[in-house]
Amino acid sequence: MRTRKGLILAGGTGSRLYPITMGLSKQLMPIYDKPMIYYPLSVLMLAGIREIGIITTPEDQAQFRHLLGDGSQWGLSIAWLVQPRPEGLAQAYLVGEDFLDGAPSAMVLGDNIFFGHGLPELLARAGARDAGGTVFGYRVADPERYGVVAMDGAGRVTGIVEKPDRPPSNYAVTGLYFLDGTAPERARAVTPSARGELEITTLLESYLADGTLNVERMGRGFAWLDTGTHGSLLDAGNFVRTLQSRQGMQTGCPEEIAYDAGWIDRAALRARAEMFAKNAYGTYLAGLLDGS
Ligand code: DAU
Repeated sequence: MRTRKGLILAGGTGSRLYPITMGLSKQLMPIYDKPMIYYPLSVLMLAGIREIGIITTPEDQAQFRHLLGDGSQWGLSIAWLVQPRPEGLAQAYLVGEDFLDGAPSAMVLGDNIFFGHGLPELLARAGARDAGGTVFGYRVADPERYGVVAMDGAGRVTGIVEKPDRPPSNYAVTGLYFLDGTAPERARAVTPSARGELEITTLLESYLADGTLNVERMGRGFAWLDTGTHGSLLDAGNFVRTLQSRQGMQTGCPEEIAYDAGWIDRAALRARAEMFAKNAYGTYLAGLLDGS
């Protein structure tokens, strides 16, 4: 199997969070002590993915580049891609087609935050499937706000529907998709929905029709945080703060993941620790050097 590549979709207008996103991309906003995109980026890294294409609007790309560069500080290789207009999630595979070059991929939305015990194992299971696709189902109280997955008694996907009036289950499809190398070709066959978007659910239906769409359930021990409203954005920041101060450990820390994976050496980690020497993030990175 070819090495899986990553895509982060970080475009869109962020209009639901106006006026705060009028001058800054949503995915650059802080979730407590880190920019939002650090969290989905960390998920791809935990899945062992090192080649990542980041899709932004044309206007916002410079700021993202300033923050993340070429990824070498974390042993990654970042490619910069542009989505001219927010025409739907499935468009990520058209924008990313040349970058993916036939490889299987994991695509994550730049505003999705995951936390949970056993996440690396769950990601490894999805990553090991070389054909078909995997989505992650998460139980929510308000499934009508999301893509929703219907399952049979054996946990097989029987349907997938975008923002249904009558949800077939309480399982929302999270913004993380592991798809095989046929995703761009399938995305080309997707036509715009009634709201004028190339829906990710339509692309996933193509896998479902072939009987190759899998769902992994994220159990109640996971947190999948919403950042769609001003209140939920603040809640997500408070969640990260509560967790980190209680545990004395970071969540969504690319340096730590890269260092643990052996993608960066001590000198590279030290350079990052020195860059942030004035704050708790830097102190934490320095602590990793002494194994504390
Ligand atoms: O968060 C999970 C949900 O994401 C899924 O359950 C849904 O199936 C999926 O359609 C999507 O629903 P949303 O209503 O949250 O999608 P939204 O339009 O808000 O876009 C999600 C993120 O992707 C947002 O940060 C903006 C970005 N985006 C969106 C579109 C449509 C892009 O970068 N480009 C786009 O064309």
